[in-house]
Formats: sequence, structure tokens, C-alpha cells
Amino acid sequence: MKNESPVVVRPARGVRGSVSLPGDKSISHRYAILAGIADGRSRLENYSTGADCASTLGCLRTLGVKWERKSGVGNVFEVQGNGTSLSAPSEPLDCGNSGSTIRMLSGIVAAQKFASEMAGDESLSRRPMERVITPLKAMGAEITSENGRPPLRITGHSLKGLDYEMPVASAQVKTCLLFAGLLADGETHIQEPLRTRDHGEVALRAFGAKLTRKGNEVSIHGGQRLHGIEALIPGDLSSAAFFLCAAALFPNSQLSITNLLMNPTRARLLDILIQMGLRISVTQLEEIHGELVGTLQVEGGKLKGATIAGPDTAALIDEIPVLAAIAPYTEQGIEVRDAKELRVKESDRIASIAINLRAMGAQVEEREDGLKIPGGQSLRGVELDSFRDHRIAMAFSIAALRAEGETLIRGSECASISYPEFFSTLEELVQR
Ligand code: S3P
Repeated sequence: MKNESPVVVRPARGVRGSVSLPGDKSISHRYAILAGIADGRSRLENYSTGADCASTLGCLRTLGVKWERKSGVGNVFEVQGNGTSLSAPSEPLDCGNSGSTIRMLSGIVAAQKFASEMAGDESLSRRPMERVITPLKAMGAEITSENGRPPLRITGHSLKGLDYEMPVASAQVKTCLLFAGLLADGETHIQEPLRTRDHGEVALRAFGAKLTRKGNEVSIHGGQRLHGIEALIPGDLSSAAFFLCAAALFPNSQLSITNLLMNPTRARLLDILIQMGLRISVTQLEEIHGELVGTLQVEGGKLKGATIAGPDTAALIDEIPVLAAIAPYTEQGIEVRDAKELRVKESDRIASIAINLRAMGAQVEEREDGLKIPGGQSLRGVELDSFRDHRIAMAFSIAALRAEGETLIRGSECASISYPEFFSTLEELVQR
């Protein structure tokens, strides 16, 4: 992300074609980490091609985990598990732009017999980490930070199980604590304020751990050993969101997406898009290592509005930028509430969305914890900023498809954080 390369997006007439996406980012991080602490070898096929998941692999290598990328089809990694003990790093763990890497891996390094420093780029260095620091300290880790922000200096200790009510709904935090709980003495019980994505639980089970769930509480017993797995990682639903929203912009769209993640804790987007008028059918549904995977057939239709609030906001947290970016083209507009977490993502996403929509000529009401974007508006192509935030760069390239004139997005190369192939795949799918 050093050189700022802009992308120019021209208006389109429709979206048509078939696509299969690189592996889900949330699952890729978790599989890589668990493969690193499992006994034996894991083979991870269709691993995310994003820089964030490469950061996780980089940190694991610094912690002594051996892995290699296989040549041939797909993005395949073989990871040789170290068992639960990793090696003391000789340099800081570089988490890059990745909140998932620093938060989830902190749960593992907190239980090791050595000290590590975890750091990242400028954006990561602004993101809140008390949400993992407080509970990990309660389990026995020693952690210092820059006022609750990275870099984190973590001195590992033998941890004890924890009974914890999470103040923030965050799957990264839940996963961090389940990982720490796996390596701790005794039981760890984590209560979430609302159900967040469950890939941490599903992945732990796939690698052989036992967990129990009662309502919003999930528990894990420490001291369990994991075994390596062979997995085909389903396509990333949050990346698919951009193409689904692009299809929603044109009534004549026809799109098919194969091998797509359909996990119910992630698939709220599909319900919302169906309510908004997109026609979606799912075929070839199957379960792989506890994750639902299917093929989507999508046809454009009307584009009605939506209100996203409460648990829906948490369930759609990564998809809100693109839903908001297409909101002006909907009939009734989109209102987003209860979304103050968006202010502490890779950028302040509420501000980034409002600035870019206004620059394109839209009316937007920006609120502390959300946005109200009226429908029935037309946008014009202008020069926009990505705010070095991958989801903002991709979201506004979708808004650009129905704008009047060309849209230039500065710093669009940051899309590679989650989806390096995004712009070339988009060009293949749009019709002009
Ligand atoms: C993620 C959880 C979400 C999401 C992030 C990935 C995960 O973050 O925004 O992109 O893989 O657990 P929070 O845990 O901060 O809600």
C-alpha cells in the first residue's frame, strides 16, 4: 500500500457471469492459526489471497511455524503444526493492517513461555485493543500497549480459565478468548452480548476440540490437543457482497457464485438483499468442516430500501459500506443504526461513507452510530478517496457503476487487503 494507484470505474449496464471467490478471510485466519498449534500437517486449499491473511501466516512463521505455498491450482498452503508450543520470536510480529491477526493471535501468544511484541501499520495502530487486553490479563497474561492501542507487548504465562461477559459484540475477541481458553488451565466461559460469527467455534471443532454452547454462552475446556485438517475454504461472502450489490443495481443482472460460504451467522446479507428485491436461489448446499457452502444464482429486480439495526448491524458489519454506497439508488433509502463499531474499523467507516457519498452529490445524514441515506438519488462520478480502507475502495467502485460519468478512487490498491483480484473480476462481470 505504499504507492497510491487510483482506479477509474466507468458506468455499467449490467452484471453477468459466473465467479468463484478466494477463501473467506475470517476462516482463513482461524484455520492458519489452529493449523499452527495443531499436531501434524494441515492442507488449506483456497486460502484467502488477501494481505491480511498473509500477515497471519507471516506472524506464524516468526513464531516458528513451518508452512509452504503449494504451486498449481488455487491458493494452497501446507502448514506443519507445532503443537501448542510455539517458538520465541526474534522480531516483532508484523500484523500489517489486520485487526483479526493481532486480536486472535494475541490469545495464543499470551499462553506461550516467552514475550512477543505485536505491531502493525498506521491504521492498525489506531484501533482499540483493550477488548482483548482486559480479559487476557484476567487470565494471567502480562500486556502493555500504547493507551490500549498497538503495539502490544505480551509476556506469556500459564493462563487460567475465565468466566467473561464480553462488553462489545466481537467475533475477533470471542475467538481470541477461545484460543486462550484452549491453552489455559480449567474452563473458559464466554458470554456474548449477541451472537457474532461463529467461525472460531466451528474451526476449533474441525481441528478436534470440544466446545459447548448454551444460548449466547460458549465454553471450552483447556488442555485439548488439536489435529491437522485438509480443508477447502469456502469463498468469502463479504467479498461476494460487492458483486451481489453490483447485481442489485441492474434489473437485468444474472450472476452465479460457486463454492460460497453460507454460514448462517454471516448470511444475513442474503436475506436483506432478497428483501430489497434481488432474486437469489441457493443450490448444491453442503457442509465442509462444519461450514455451510453453496452455489448462488442471482437475478436483479427492484431495489427497495432497508433499515439495518440491532443484531442485524453486527451480522452485516463488513457489508454495511457497500450497502450504504448503493443506498442512494434504492427506492426508499437505507438507514443504519447501532453501528458505532464502524468508527473503529480500518477507517472511520461512517465518516468515509458520508464523505464519499456527498462528494458524489448524495444527501446523507451522518449520525454518531449510523447513517440515514435517502433513496431515489442519482450520483455523479468524481474523484474519491479510499481512506486506505479496502472495503471503502471496493464499495465505491460499486456505487460508481451507476453514477453519471467516471469515478476515480485514490489508493484503490488497498483492496488487496482482502481481495487483490477484485478490480479485474469486477471488470469481467460488468457489462458496458
Ligand atoms: C471478524 C470480525 C469482525 C469483522 C472483521 C472480521 C472476524 O470484527 O469486522 O472483518 O473474523 O472475527 P469484530 O470482531 O471487531 O466485530
